[in-house]
Amino acid sequence: MEIRLQKYLSDCGVASRRKSEEIILSGRVKVNDEVVDILGSKVIIGVDVIKVNDVVVKKDEKKVYIMLHKPEGYVTTVKDQFERPTVMDLIKDVDERIYPVGRLDYETSGLLLLTNDGELTFKLTHPKHEVSKTYIAQVIGLPTKEELDNFKEGLFIDGYKTSKAEVNIIKKMERMTTLKITIIEGKNRQVRKMCEAIGHKVGNLKRVATGKLELGDLTRGEYRYLTEKEIEYLMKI
Ligand code: URA
Repeated sequence: MEIRLQKYLSDCGVASRRKSEEIILSGRVKVNDEVVDILGSKVIIGVDVIKVNDVVVKKDEKKVYIMLHKPEGYVTTVKDQFERPTVMDLIKDVDERIYPVGRLDYETSGLLLLTNDGELTFKLTHPKHEVSKTYIAQVIGLPTKEELDNFKEGLFIDGYKTSKAEVNIIKKMERMTTLKITIIEGKNRQVRKMCEAIGHKVGNLKRVATGKLELGDLTRGEYRYLTEKEIEYLMKI
């Protein structure tokens, strides 16, 4: 988008429109390292580099918060070294430079947040904040009550003891059991490792909630912007 230089400066909060005109006329503004001291010049947002007193001036990007239903077979990174599909391939029509909050394994599906809000990402991924994550896991066999009690007490995996987790049986099938598991940590492949530690390998794993945010009926590969209420909730965590 092309706009007048003085409007660009005032939009970026450098000064009022009138004052920005004075700054331009004083020769303190450069566009792509060339001094521009005439009024009426236009600049292209996101392409031209604008400096005032040799300091780059940028407009704050609007903060966006997106919930994606990540399908299996996508990596949770912006770029993959093995050229596998990434979750970013699923996001269309979003101009802001967003990135995933935390990660889900390649073969795990479900709720993944994406944002350009670094502070929120830090908060949600920092162990101190203990934001719960709820998963639906299909495991092989039927875990006993004693086996599941281990989840509540903490399990040893990779040489550390997991925090208490909640677990409930949702459905029993002939060879598989569907479990609902809520953890407050996010160690590498934690749910899979916890289930393996009690002797029940995970077939399918899907994250259905992060804190109070629920995946709901978003279909695989679909995404939506968070509502004001959901954003407010995240800010309060
Ligand atoms: N636990 C896992 O094992 N995998 C995930 O992707 C998330 C939690």
